[in-house]
Amino acid sequence: MATQTAPHVYLQDIAAWDGKDVTLKGWLYNKRSSGKIRFVLLRDGTGVIQCVGSIKDIGEDGFAEIDAMSQESSLMVVGTVHADERAPGGFELILKQVTPVQAAMGEFPISPKEHGTAFLMDNRHLWLRSKRQVSIMRIRHCIVKAIRDFFDERGFTLFDPPIFTNAACEGTSTLFETDYFGEPAYLSQSGQLYGECGAMALGRIYTFGPTFRAEKSKTRRHLTEFWMIEPEVAYMDMWGAAELAEDMICFIVQRVLETRAEDLKVIERDSSILEKIRKPFPRISYTDAIEVLKQNGHEISWGDDIGGDEETTISNQYDRPVFLHHFPAHLKAFYMKRDPEDDKLALGFDILAPEGKGEVVGGGQREDSYDELVKRVMEHGLKVEDFSWYLDLRKFGSVPHAGYGLGLERTVAWLCGLPHVRETIPFPRMISRLKP
Ligand code: 4AD
Ligand code: MG
Repeated sequence: MATQTAPHVYLQDIAAWDGKDVTLKGWLYNKRSSGKIRFVLLRDGTGVIQCVGSIKDIGEDGFAEIDAMSQESSLMVVGTVHADERAPGGFELILKQVTPVQAAMGEFPISPKEHGTAFLMDNRHLWLRSKRQVSIMRIRHCIVKAIRDFFDERGFTLFDPPIFTNAACEGTSTLFETDYFGEPAYLSQSGQLYGECGAMALGRIYTFGPTFRAEKSKTRRHLTEFWMIEPEVAYMDMWGAAELAEDMICFIVQRVLETRAEDLKVIERDSSILEKIRKPFPRISYTDAIEVLKQNGHEISWGDDIGGDEETTISNQYDRPVFLHHFPAHLKAFYMKRDPEDDKLALGFDILAPEGKGEVVGGGQREDSYDELVKRVMEHGLKVEDFSWYLDLRKFGSVPHAGYGLGLERTVAWLCGLPHVRETIPFPRMISRLKP
């Protein structure tokens, strides 16, 4: 058989090549044979297509190549694209030539049969090739791009905070400590304090980066390494930040619905649930939420933290995200501004995602008085000298300002309808998971 040449095409663009010859480069996803025909399911990272080989087109040699290949062997094929309504994806490829690249060394561990979670997590590096994981990664990418577009289109500047830091932002109980040339350093729990410096320099910024928390509990919502997006705006109050978060979430959901419909189908996500996400989101104060929780049988009193189960009770009352606001100040971080009308309360809010997916956003207005902030730092048992640079923001042109943090993985879990955050990031880091 003469060597065939045809342009290399990615499966996501295959519709433009109906009736034409193309080269596909990928991996064997699955195969079967029936009499004088070989069927190869080929994946190339952007899609999967059924390739059909007949003896007259690819000969005994082509059959032998296919028969020798097992799942996840790499190969290149040349063939003619053929629209077929019955084919998954709408097209199949009539094979003209099969070129093996590497024959898989043994049986691929992840077969189409069911596997346990621990096994899949141990083989995460290979599990990522499965259709469902590919779709989740594409939706994650779409969410990242939507967030960046949202802020870029509104005049925000991306502002990268450091990852090695000298002090705690979100409490000392979840700090990862490391040795920094003989001094302790901490992996960043949040870029916020640096983001505030950026807001005073640039007016409106957002940070977008990895953050780290030594979360000692195993839950469906906690990673030890996760990505956070933290906008910070000078001359903004708490409700301004809340509206910004609301607009951002609606923007992200719309983008996912518009551009990732196919992937939502692959992961069997009911998109009608996402179509209901419109503003305004309901707003309920912490104090009212405690009453709702009591009515629903929770043993909780004013001043207690609202945990995962309580969050689910509250969010289950709505088909869209809900704001919880005005928490007791003692539950919140040192930097939160107190309510001028009630010193026990903080000007902060959380957004709880629907379907029991928990808190996706935490934010609020920052303490902008130098004297008050020094007092809070000390009340939280933190060292004033560690925050000298942060306190300087209140010395030189302090202004009201606010912002929030969106957890990327929890957002992916919610939009994809995943019960656990472990599938939302390529290589999740959790208390008992550092490999692969
Ligand atoms: O509520 P948090 O702790 O807020 C902050 O860090 C503020 N500095 C944000 C700000 O105002 N700039 O975290 C914000 C969000 C949470 O709502 C949650 O979505 C996510 O980050 N998050 C986690 N996601 C996965 N694993 C964890 N261990 C997380 N901890 C927080
Ligand atoms: Mg929070």
